[in-house]
Amino acid sequence: MGPAMWGGGDSMAPENMPMAEPFLGELQNLVRAHYPLIHISTHEEDRCLTAIRLLAAQMDKKVFLWSTSRGCHAMDPAEDVPAASRYRLADLTAAIEFFEKQVTTKARDDNGFIFVLLDPFPYLSDRSINPIYRRRLRDFAISIRTKSYQASCLVISPTGEMPVELEKEVTVIDFPLPSRAEITGYMNSLLDRLGTRTAITVDDDPGLTEKLVDAALGLTLAEIEGALVKAVVEDTHLTAEAVDKIFRQKQQIVRKSGVLDYIDTGSLALSEIGGLKVFKEWLRIRAATFSPKARGFGIEAPKGVLLTGIPGCGKSWAAKCVAASWRLPLVRLDMGKIYSALIGSSEEHMRHAIQTAEAIAPCILWIDEIEKGLPRPRGYIGDSGVSLRVLGKFLTWMQEKTAPVFVFATANQIDLLPPEVLRKGRFDEVFFVDLPSSAERREILRIHLSRVGRDPQQLDLEELVRLSGPEFLGDSLSLTGAELAAWINEALIHAFDRGADDLMMDDFRLIARQTVPLAQMRQEEIREMREWASMHAMDASAAIHRRSQLTPELGVLEGGASAGGLPSGELKDVAAPDP
Ligand SMILES: Nc1ncnc2c1ncn2[C@@H]1O[C@H](COP(=O)(O)OP(=O)(O)OP(=O)(O)O)[C@@H](O)[C@H]1O
Ligand SMILES: [Mg+2]
Repeated sequence: MGPAMWGGGDSMAPENMPMAEPFLGELQNLVRAHYPLIHISTHEEDRCLTAIRLLAAQMDKKVFLWSTSRGCHAMDPAEDVPAASRYRLADLTAAIEFFEKQVTTKARDDNGFIFVLLDPFPYLSDRSINPIYRRRLRDFAISIRTKSYQASCLVISPTGEMPVELEKEVTVIDFPLPSRAEITGYMNSLLDRLGTRTAITVDDDPGLTEKLVDAALGLTLAEIEGALVKAVVEDTHLTAEAVDKIFRQKQQIVRKSGVLDYIDTGSLALSEIGGLKVFKEWLRIRAATFSPKARGFGIEAPKGVLLTGIPGCGKSWAAKCVAASWRLPLVRLDMGKIYSALIGSSEEHMRHAIQTAEAIAPCILWIDEIEKGLPRPRGYIGDSGVSLRVLGKFLTWMQEKTAPVFVFATANQIDLLPPEVLRKGRFDEVFFVDLPSSAERREILRIHLSRVGRDPQQLDLEELVRLSGPEFLGDSLSLTGAELAAWINEALIHAFDRGADDLMMDDFRLIARQTVPLAQMRQEEIREMREWASMHAMDASAAIHRRSQLTPELGVLEGGASAGGLPSGELKDVAAPDP
């Protein structure tokens, strides 16, 4: 079941729907400049054809369509190809010949043509046995370019990549998912139709349509209709419950996209992050800049943040807490899947992910381990071109994006990040998350003890802080946030196993003696990370800017030692004392 967009006649007719304005503008420019081949990658063929129909009407162009099943036909029935030859033209070379004939024999007052190829990739791909299709299309594209044909050839298809021979002739553009205005129009007409043609009653909650529209952002029109129909099949009275159903449908679709995941952030909040004061303050200030009021004040929505640092120190955790505290949906983009997906190209996946994120904006796009899939800078053999191109596409989008998509990226192996990632204009800030200081460990322990329903007052918190830091573990070592959380968990298991009424300090001591901290196993790596961070990142915990910018006074404050040589945890205690 799809939206009956070609049915015409009722309020759902394409003419009545607001259409993706920026897309139409871009396409119009390309057609006006006689770009020979334009590839529009979309699953929404109907909606895309509606846009093309609007454009053709505005520019007074004739549109011919080709598909392997229907052959050639005109978009305007009055102009149609005689039925007898329509099917003969199912062959792609015959169709292109037919197109070329239209152009070369056109009447003087004709304003030119738009030719549309629907799903031609099986003929064009490098794997197709017959090279004639590729060649014929290339000849045609070259003719459009060199002989100033009044024509453009559009290719519409949800997937597929142009063969190399055609790469130079083709321009790829995005067809955006329906905008809020489009969805509102569509939702209104759907509800109208349901109300007048079926036994379904629509709740007279005045905010209902708006809630449905919010939930439907990010879906195609067909998907919206599908979700809504599903909701009314289950209940003939349409209420706000349908919102949940649409929302669940959306989660499924985001999942189906293969590279994005909806993350449930439940009851988390910024206060669940222990330490990282500077980072949390930075976020607190940014939270308000999403509002219309901030926009009115002239503030652009923040682009995003890159969090690097020692494993287990709360990077991923922070992403969830931020989303929960800002009450924005959190969608995770898996870079690994972008490169490894079996169907479609990496570039397509990236395009699709960006589109989906923009469509559900405002949201947080979480890219965990952004460096995943990037080639190793030294000694790498293989195709580094694709991954750099995909990352390039992403960075360009970051720089230019206007949709309120806040990018929350994390990186573990910072040496893999190409310098472009760090350039100004991309991320608003790069933060480094170090091992937690004693004050931070205290906070993290408090948070996680509370999370397992234990009152931190009942335990010797200071002793726990001591056992998890340099005093007990040795030179500049401390447990990470992940290790602290695991420590509590292990201690609980131990207490339970010995049949105790509750946790005792001895449970913690026992586990502590058995633990080899990550910081000890990876000392060298941590040292390198800190060195990198001192040049490139802002400390997420200490109220100092990049350490390379330390003022002499701060240097004295830190005991006169250079930042690199200090046990960093303790450094932060001095620089950012807890209240
Ligand atoms: N600052 C913190 N405050 C509260 N909990 C924390 C903190 N840091 C870590 N944790 C706990 O440790 C767990 C693991 O942390 P997280 O997954 O965020 O680490 P990470 O920095 O993303 O590590 P990795 O580099 O391995 O992905 C979290 O789920 C959380 O329970
Ligand atoms: Mg992580």
